[in-house]
Amino acid sequence: MSRIIVVSNRTPGKGPAAGGLAVALRKTLAEREGFWFGWSGRLVDAPSPEARFEDIDGLSVAQIDLTREDHHAYYAGFSNSILWPSFHLRLDLATIEAHWYEGYRRVNTQFARALLPLLKPDDIIWVHDYHLIPLASELRNLGARNRIGFYLHIPFPTVDALYAIPHHQELMRDLSRYDLVGMQANRDVVAFTEFAEHQAPSTLAGSPLKSVDFGRTEVAAFPIGSDPDAFARLATSPAAIKMIRRMERALNDQQLILGVDRLDYSKGLPQRVEAYEKLLLNDSRFRRTVHLLQVAPPSRDTIKEYQQTSDELDAICGRVMGRFAEPDWQPLTYVKRAYGQPSLAGLYRLARVGLVTPLRDGMNLVAHEYIGAQDPADPGVLILSRFAGAAEIFEDAILVNPFDTDETAEALRMALDMDLEERQRRWQTLMTAARKHNVEDWAISFLDRLAPASTAGTGTRDILYLASVA
Ligand code: F6P
Repeated sequence: MSRIIVVSNRTPGKGPAAGGLAVALRKTLAEREGFWFGWSGRLVDAPSPEARFEDIDGLSVAQIDLTREDHHAYYAGFSNSILWPSFHLRLDLATIEAHWYEGYRRVNTQFARALLPLLKPDDIIWVHDYHLIPLASELRNLGARNRIGFYLHIPFPTVDALYAIPHHQELMRDLSRYDLVGMQANRDVVAFTEFAEHQAPSTLAGSPLKSVDFGRTEVAAFPIGSDPDAFARLATSPAAIKMIRRMERALNDQQLILGVDRLDYSKGLPQRVEAYEKLLLNDSRFRRTVHLLQVAPPSRDTIKEYQQTSDELDAICGRVMGRFAEPDWQPLTYVKRAYGQPSLAGLYRLARVGLVTPLRDGMNLVAHEYIGAQDPADPGVLILSRFAGAAEIFEDAILVNPFDTDETAEALRMALDMDLEERQRRWQTLMTAARKHNVEDWAISFLDRLAPASTAGTGTRDILYLASVA
């Protein structure tokens, strides 16, 4: 059986980013053989061209170092100041510096040069996320003929947002050099299809670009999931129970509304707190009887727009406190730090409401984890943004438009007033959906589709737009 080579910017054990993915792919890698390839987390003056192998909790991981300058242009620059805001439809928050693209490509070339000597001809390569869109092109330019798949963890942009990205035509051509491109949601496949069918002419006079031919590339939605039963077990583990007891003492019968998000402008945190403010304003029953806990670990904090989001959140939380707090009651707690999975599982289980309201999100695994952690006898209610990929799966959540804070405030009221029978009915449907879209099946279905035995993507000149892997 072919080996599986997983490639991502972060590697397992080097930070929270690859954590969930690592759990999902650990089993697959153990069964199929292979290794994980990515950035070591180290910045050096002169990186070795060769990757170093390391055993991380039984997983074989090959890593390379980067220069500080390249890493800045590739990660903070092109990936997170251009691609991230554009793909999340926040062009107002994009900063475009032309030289970042060269750094982005240089790092992708460096990845390809270090990976190529490690490959066997029948290895299957699975590349993850927007940092590495050009990797298949770079590998193929060096002669790799392997099957290569790409999975986009964030939403695919609308065509206008895509056209605002410098070198978007080259990036799309890079995507066309993969055999399989996986997206989170059907809406992403639809947006991709729109680009593929109506490619705009180049905006640079005198350099007309040919349209991109996606004839070899299959594009389909593979909604990622979690392991909801593992989360259910975690939520009754000693560490989770310790957190539950600690919070119960602090809450003293107040109902907990919980948000857990990286501190990122795509997560809609100011709008969320504003909706909570409206709940307290509209309905005095909830003053003293509810408490909002927002966990928001800082993220990408060298980037100006992330610092501004943090300041904005400080200001709005301060405003709500000033408006509603009393000497013996505080309406909210805002924690800017990360917690381990067991503590989070405890918080999810205790929360009467899981408030997951990103302005736009690839999938949002907090929604999956919140569902997994609930007590079947007394489950909480999920309020979910209709602009998260998860909304295509969890129709029995209370779906809201996160930009409409009146609607979110009303959803909060509904959730807090919801009777046990309806909470149980909704949760059962949600848990069934979370189990159906579990992360292990996600990895298997993507790899099955990418495997050479698969007929998809070979020999046809048509683009295959597949609605869903369900
Ligand atoms: O959602 C996209 C993503 O890259 C995730 O894979 C990751 O968990 C998150 O963003 C954090 O990213 P970073 O590596 O920039 O901290």
